[in-house]
Amino acid sequence: MLSILACPRCRSATPFADLRRLRCKSCGAELSGSNPTVLDLIDVQGAGEVTTTSTEQRLMQSDLVARIYERMWRPTFVRLFAGKGAGAAVGGIAGEVFIHKHGLSLDDRPGPWLDLSCGPGAFARALAAAAPGALIVGLDISKAMLDVSAQRTGGYTNVVLVRADAHALPFIDGAFGGVNNAGALHAYDDPELVFREIRRVLRPGGIYVGSTFAEAPSLLGRIAARAAGIRRFEPAELRAWLQRIGFADYEDVRLGGSLVFRVRRP
Ligand SMILES: C[S@@+](CC[C@H](N)C(=O)[O-])C[C@H]1O[C@@H](n2cnc3c(N)ncnc32)[C@H](O)[C@@H]1O
Repeated sequence: MLSILACPRCRSATPFADLRRLRCKSCGAELSGSNPTVLDLIDVQGAGEVTTTSTEQRLMQSDLVARIYERMWRPTFVRLFAGKGAGAAVGGIAGEVFIHKHGLSLDDRPGPWLDLSCGPGAFARALAAAAPGALIVGLDISKAMLDVSAQRTGGYTNVVLVRADAHALPFIDGAFGGVNNAGALHAYDDPELVFREIRRVLRPGGIYVGSTFAEAPSLLGRIAARAAGIRRFEPAELRAWLQRIGFADYEDVRLGGSLVFRVRRP
């Protein structure tokens, strides 16, 4: 794990002598520190704790929401914002995990794999089970989500959980064979910056699979999403955006008002 870390402030490679004292050897940045289950790489004196802007993101910091997220929260809001087609067509989160896992082509490349904005860890667990010999890094900004993820991924020795900001990934260039990024694009302040970070941490040939909300099929879904301030991404917009940033081979599938896409770093 140490070999793929970079300082989130100065970006220097292998910044820490060991994971118990997270002080960058190059710029002196002191990071939050680690607890036994989560490596906390938030730059407390630099960018600092990320200020939470949206209501949704504030809710993602709640212990209660993190605990009920997979079984209740996610299915309810996916259904509301994306319509019944999103989950029903593929059997809910299990079906989504299946699509992401195959989109990443786990069998054809060695990893490591990043589950970006992993939440309570459903996708990280599936990747860990499917690629037992590879390192799976689950990253999120919410302590509450990572604590639940730690409980649920505890049985997998190949999972490491990291607390960091998707806008400043604490990894060296080309660290990963693939990046998974389910249902989080709408939550980022600056998706352009996150796309650039994902491209940077992918090695050439690496795959990025993401999912997000496209236009809701129902009027109720459109009203609810607008009221909640949920940003939507149209396939044509996303394709052009990702191509401009330097991704290739865009493909997508629409599941009701959800969109799963896959691109490759050339
Ligand atoms: C809707 S949840 C999706 C969780 C999981 N990927 C899933 O599909 O079940 C969005 C996640 O993005 C995380 N997130 C939001 N902003 C982030 C940021 N700037 N950096 C990293 N994670 C972030 C939230 O904490 C939350 O866990």
